[in-house]
Amino acid sequence: MGTWGVGDGRLARIEAMSSGAATTTQPTKVKDALHYWVERLRGDDVPDAVLAAEYIISYVLGLPRRRLDSEMSLVLSQEKVKEIERLMTCRLARMPLQYILGEWDFRDITLKLRPPVFIPRPETEQLVDLALECLQGIHKPKVLEIGCGSGAISLSLLHSREDIECVAVDQSRIAVNLAEENANDVGVLGRMTLVEGKVTSNASVSLPHDTYDLVVSNPPYVLRKDLTNLQPEIMLYEDLRALDGGPEGLDVIKSIFHLSHSLLPYNHYLLLEVDPCHPYLIPAWLEKQKKLKMAVINVYQDLSQKDRFIKCVKYE
Ligand SMILES: C[S@@+](CC[C@H](N)C(=O)[O-])C[C@H]1O[C@@H](n2cnc3c(N)ncnc32)[C@H](O)[C@@H]1O
Repeated sequence: MGTWGVGDGRLARIEAMSSGAATTTQPTKVKDALHYWVERLRGDDVPDAVLAAEYIISYVLGLPRRRLDSEMSLVLSQEKVKEIERLMTCRLARMPLQYILGEWDFRDITLKLRPPVFIPRPETEQLVDLALECLQGIHKPKVLEIGCGSGAISLSLLHSREDIECVAVDQSRIAVNLAEENANDVGVLGRMTLVEGKVTSNASVSLPHDTYDLVVSNPPYVLRKDLTNLQPEIMLYEDLRALDGGPEGLDVIKSIFHLSHSLLPYNHYLLLEVDPCHPYLIPAWLEKQKKLKMAVINVYQDLSQKDRFIKCVKYE
């Protein structure tokens, strides 16, 4: 008794645990619970089992994950054991850790996250750096973000510089509401305008300003053919409209170019996160759309050395 690795009697203990019947055989020390849940997650091929188990247990204990090591001998109350089980069951059902915990860090802010609003990805932190670079030397810049999701990009910009004003648009009301909640938590709601609306090539959303100093977006850019290869975490829990960019991944991107053409003054920038094939496809498309007066002037790689971001300028 008391060992929670793979072994004789494990199934009976799991059954007892899920029925809530036996309490004496449940792991009561942090180190036993950790070992047990890592094995269970691994047994179901859940990725990053150690990370998930550590995050969930430390979350239930109300501790930062780095402090878990020093609490291995702590005895868990039955209430905590049950709560850990509840959250681990969500992870076994492949719910992303970010939704289970309900929050996640992005750069130096913490965002509330709820399904099905898109979970900000680490590479998008680089897009914020690029946006801040573009805004250097501009006093009180006005930024337009298309597809704000939880608000990660706009809120990071607002948190980084006190003179920035952001207008953030999303077609999803759930996303707009979450972004508003996050803006309030980060303390920047006064400098952010949230707009629920769908950007398309022919109909524009109603926005508070006629021009912007920068347009930035991490749009849905996944090519339709690649959507079937996504992990269950994404397929089951995230809004696929946040990812689906159409046959070439360019459907929303093209609309953003049309909008940027009408809202950017000359020599101002549009920054986009894209699929690695897009830095090749977009210049060819822009060549045929001369009236847009937009050109790709830089391509940047993400941390995995994939062409991931493009900087475009509106020319005269
Ligand atoms: C890839 S997610 C990015 C979310 C957030 N900016 C981030 O990086 O975490 C794309 C977002 O664009 C929104 N969206 C998709 N198509 C749109 C459209 N045509 N107009 C406005 N928003 C759109 C989706 O609802 C989703 O929130």
